[in-house]
Amino acid sequence: MSYSYYKEIFKHTPTPFAFVDKDILLANCQAILKRAQDKKIRIATKSVRSVEVLKFLLAQSPQMQGLMCYSAEEAAWLAGLGFDDLLVAYPTVQKKHLQQVAAQIKLGKKIILMANQPEHLQQLQKIAVQEGIIQPICVDIDLSMPFFGLHFGVKRSNLTNAAQLNAFISILNQSPNLKLCGLMGYEAQIAGVGDAMKGRLLMNKIIQYLKRKSIKKLRQWRAQAVEMLLKAGFKLDFVNGGGTGSLESSREEGVITEVAVGSGFYSPTLFDHYSNFRHQPAALFALEICRTPQKGVYTCLGGGYVASGSVGKEKLPLPCLPEGCVLDNNEGAGEVQTPVLYAGDEKLAVGDLVFFRHAKAGELCERFNRLYWVEKGEISQEILTYRGEGKSFV
Ligand SMILES: Cc1ncc(COP(=O)(O)O)c(C=O)c1O
Repeated sequence: MSYSYYKEIFKHTPTPFAFVDKDILLANCQAILKRAQDKKIRIATKSVRSVEVLKFLLAQSPQMQGLMCYSAEEAAWLAGLGFDDLLVAYPTVQKKHLQQVAAQIKLGKKIILMANQPEHLQQLQKIAVQEGIIQPICVDIDLSMPFFGLHFGVKRSNLTNAAQLNAFISILNQSPNLKLCGLMGYEAQIAGVGDAMKGRLLMNKIIQYLKRKSIKKLRQWRAQAVEMLLKAGFKLDFVNGGGTGSLESSREEGVITEVAVGSGFYSPTLFDHYSNFRHQPAALFALEICRTPQKGVYTCLGGGYVASGSVGKEKLPLPCLPEGCVLDNNEGAGEVQTPVLYAGDEKLAVGDLVFFRHAKAGELCERFNRLYWVEKGEISQEILTYRGEGKSFV
């Protein structure tokens, strides 16, 4: 979309604000459904963080298979709002949150908690006994790969081989209130690492090579883990894998029944650099130009919404409209002042808007209470983010 398109839509809107372009979100959603082929999609809520947007996405296709939550407290809250089939992707031993989950399970909701080590199983079993429930759980296996001293992937689960999974199974077998119903493995080194970065030809080649090697190995381990669980007598309702960046390889794995997707819907800047797909920016934020200190310099109010993870320039927000805007190298995106350099044709002045994209998807919503839905050239609705609902989970 062009600068003039959004400028016209938001000519009376006070800054700063964030919005989701529903037409683009829908196009991204359709592209993702296509990319997933016959796999179900579990929506990663961390990358969405708005109840209304989650509802919208779930309504798009029966191919959507519930939500992947990032906190037990969040899952219990969403269950209370009417959502169901909630997989909590990250383990927790917080008693209060596990009790909130138990309360929803007693009301008939399906909330599956994650476990990968004895401490998780012990605490989940204890709370399940206290609450008088059978707690559905999912085991998370590690899919990261060491390559020549490099850790390719994320450090999460300790379950890297059959012996460790067997040890986990034997503790699980002594936990009568826990019911294993799923397996998850997140290949972050495929799903979350771009391999088509501009001007980095050699690095892209190396990453593509590592990805190919890694896919081969992780497929074997995931298939073996599934086989072990089935042999041990567990009935798996789902095998969850992948993320936005790995749909092309995840969909080829026979044992995977569903893929987790979140970031691709908003398509933040970290997802611009993949060789296998490109979605369109659906979530943006806008700042006002509040001063013009030098020719070609437009200083905006606010904007320091830097993304989490390892520190690097790629975590800064990206001014994207008008086209050709860039951040100032010395200042980046500031707590209260963000100078933007621009030498294009648009006549910018104090009070005008500059539009930005966040590096990550859901984190944008931690900065704003509301999102505007933009649809067919106008604001169709104002919706709340999790933050706007007074919710902040991690
Ligand atoms: C367990 C798990 N699955 C899937 C994903 C992929 O999410 P997204 O599509 O937002 O990249 C993530 C992201 O960190 C994750 O932690």
